[in-house]
Amino acid sequence: LADDGYRLWLKYDQLPDARLRKAWQAQAKGITVENGASPTLQTAAHELQLGLQGLLGRPVSVGASGGKGRIRLQVAADPTLGKEGYKISEQNGGLVVTGPTDAAVLYGCFALLRHVQTGQMPPTAALTSQPRVQYRMLNHWDNPNGTVERGYAGSSIWKWLELPEVIDPRYKDYARANASIGINGIVVNNVNASARYLTPEYLRKVAAVADVMRPYGIRVYLSVMWAAPKLIGGLSTSDPLDPKVRQWWKARTDEIYKTIPDFGGFLVKANSEGEPGPQDYGRNHADGANMLAESLGQHDGIVMWRAFVYKANSKGDRFKEAYEEFKPLDGKFAPKVLVQVKNGPIDFQSREPFHPLFGAMPRTPLVLEVQLTQEYLGFATHLVYLGPLIKECLESDTYSQGKGSTVAKVIDGTLEKHSISGIAGVANIGSDRNWTGHPVGQANWYAFGRLAWDHTLKSDAVAEEWTKMTLTREPQAVNTIAQVLNQSRNIYVRYTTPLGLHHIMGQSIHYGPEPWLEKSARPDWTSVYYHKADSIGLGFDRTAKGSNALSLYSPQVRQLWGNPATCPPDYLLWFHHVPWGQRLSTGNTLWDELTTRYYSGADSVLWMQQQWEQVKPKVDPEQHTDIASRLRIQHREALWWRDACVLYFQTYAKRPIPPSLTPPT
Ligand code: GCU
Repeated sequence: LADDGYRLWLKYDQLPDARLRKAWQAQAKGITVENGASPTLQTAAHELQLGLQGLLGRPVSVGASGGKGRIRLQVAADPTLGKEGYKISEQNGGLVVTGPTDAAVLYGCFALLRHVQTGQMPPTAALTSQPRVQYRMLNHWDNPNGTVERGYAGSSIWKWLELPEVIDPRYKDYARANASIGINGIVVNNVNASARYLTPEYLRKVAAVADVMRPYGIRVYLSVMWAAPKLIGGLSTSDPLDPKVRQWWKARTDEIYKTIPDFGGFLVKANSEGEPGPQDYGRNHADGANMLAESLGQHDGIVMWRAFVYKANSKGDRFKEAYEEFKPLDGKFAPKVLVQVKNGPIDFQSREPFHPLFGAMPRTPLVLEVQLTQEYLGFATHLVYLGPLIKECLESDTYSQGKGSTVAKVIDGTLEKHSISGIAGVANIGSDRNWTGHPVGQANWYAFGRLAWDHTLKSDAVAEEWTKMTLTREPQAVNTIAQVLNQSRNIYVRYTTPLGLHHIMGQSIHYGPEPWLEKSARPDWTSVYYHKADSIGLGFDRTAKGSNALSLYSPQVRQLWGNPATCPPDYLLWFHHVPWGQRLSTGNTLWDELTTRYYSGADSVLWMQQQWEQVKPKVDPEQHTDIASRLRIQHREALWWRDACVLYFQTYAKRPIPPSLTPPT
């Protein structure tokens, strides 16, 4: 059977190396579950059995009895492992997977499988790991009618019309994939939420999904529509300070917990892009979030309140708006509230400076939100591995408490000493057989989970791991593919928005180039608002001479980015309006550097194609053809981006394209 990508990275085909198989066979004759039969431990044992049987090519029994050469699964208190950490070690000649909770043991089993699957010998020293971030969430932007906002991989995997009676087997496969990378929470519906999810009819459906997720250590959350008390509660207001509204939410929340006892909590988009919110009643975001936190009462749930806001008809710089609204509220949120902040200040562009709220709200736990669905990164047709984008944000230094105050340390809670922490990825998952449309989209789901668990992992190591588990085990091919993955994001940036250009894509659908767009429903939904091309130069001046958005950052960041000579070229046009003839740190003038990047970016897609051709004998033919075909679209569209942008900006720059870029054919 051809490989259609359905199995994701959970591919347990027999290890080709007989020596490796033998070594593991001696260690894995069977699995012993030491502490009884909780569904999660049973699941852990079953997953381990399934994986090992495939990888080692022979039966592996599961039982309660001991014996030599069996892997023991053991729940045991261990203060060094936190709540979800695991340890894989050798005791009395046999491997033991321990952890303080059932879920921790499950994570240990998947880690052990990963170890075998990536071709490593049985460990001689203990393998231990614990997550650095507590809430590791996928956010689905899925609607009740089965569509997915900004989804490019088919329709929603949730079949609301069939639930709760019909349980699509795919739900379990989805849970397995998530658990294998440590994701422990899913928001099942779009942030532009329908109030229907809070009705008894839909809660039963959500409960059925939660039942499938539970053994895999995954809790279910809901996005809420702020105006629900009015829309489905029969009230005349949704004012968070109105006692009737508070009572309504309390009763609704109690009802939810009756239906879903381990419900995780709420995600809220309020007073953003036309959604209702507490500001409709003269209240602020903290009033709204705290009211929901209060409704959770003693239940073990949280509120994730999104900071993605910008006012209608704002005259200012959109870059600054979330900061201006949220920074003054620091310290005003209830303990169960986390504020969820996108990686950058605008909206999931292919490269953004880190959001200025990171480091600026020390009294509020902040969730980092990244987008796995490639809304601005070529949908499911362009190969773009997002590990480097996520890492770039995590490693950015906010300097909020001196050097080393990285975004990673802000969101894992260590910098500001928070007891709760979270990270969220907007899911790229849909009903396509291969889940993500572009097969390499799977790598983005995978990398998100791995980095959410441990943000110190290197994105290139994660790419390599994913490639080995998913596409091929042949070392040379792994190397070649991992290189393509690692370079792909920079290549995409070069042929679409080099040097810090942003938001010049086709409006409304957010695909392809449209730098010339001048008119839209609002000024900050155009391109010219952002690139500001004129006869003098290009780029958005966010220094004190311009919008002064730079003032939102720490002095060290301000100093580095505020001076065009020290601002990294990758961020240059985010912060400066640079004359066309200005010489950059690269040695080129702005115009020459810009055109060079557009041309070399588009050419690099040819390089990606060549690399992909080289690995042809080593990967599944169906997968190979699929990716090769998408790379052809990518090249065509890279040329489209290049030509559209270069020719458009040339009308301002009035300079020739450097002849070296367009040799005569
Ligand atoms: C982007 C996206 C919207 C989405 C919004 C959000 O603007 O285009 O579809 O609703 O982000 O994150 O809320």
